[in-house]
Amino acid sequence: MQSTPQLFNDSWDRIQTNNKQFISCFYHYLIANSEEITQIFVNSKIQEPEKLLHTSILYIVTFSTAKLPEKSLQRVKTIHEKLNISDDHFNLWMESLICAVKVWDPKFSPEVETAWLKTFKLGLDFMKKA
Ligand code: HEM
Repeated sequence: MQSTPQLFNDSWDRIQTNNKQFISCFYHYLIANSEEITQIFVNSKIQEPEKLLHTSILYIVTFSTAKLPEKSLQRVKTIHEKLNISDDHFNLWMESLICAVKVWDPKFSPEVETAWLKTFKLGLDFMKKA
């Protein structure tokens, strides 16, 4: 049986083939499911949403797996606190990510889903905790 890191890394590799579509799919779900999130993005000055998603994933995965120093993620967390991003927004962020993985990973399975959720848990909990 494959380990969580193997399942996650293989899924991530498969998605890279359709990276652009994966990212638009993620933003589509995120924005379509929350008027509040749409407003937050409209009011922000994000130049390159594609890069932002990649950076976000990198932050969370590195924090969860390789123990990125808390200080680095704390800076990102503070930015989000100022933007009033709530736990519900973070949950929707994760849900949207899973929806996009479901569409763009041709080998998506319940095990792959669990691997993504496990990989993001620590980082996501850190972002959410008051
Ligand atoms: C765990 C989930 C998330 C991670 C890891 C993450 C990560 C990041 C990072 C690294 C930046 C760039 C910060 C900088 O250096 O300037 C950023 C900016 C931003 N994020 Fe997130 N994010 C997450 C969830 C969300 C959610 C749920 C929303 C919206 C509801 C959101 C909205 C924004 C906005 C609007 C900015 C741009 C801020 C600005 O420069 O005006 N993020 N995020």
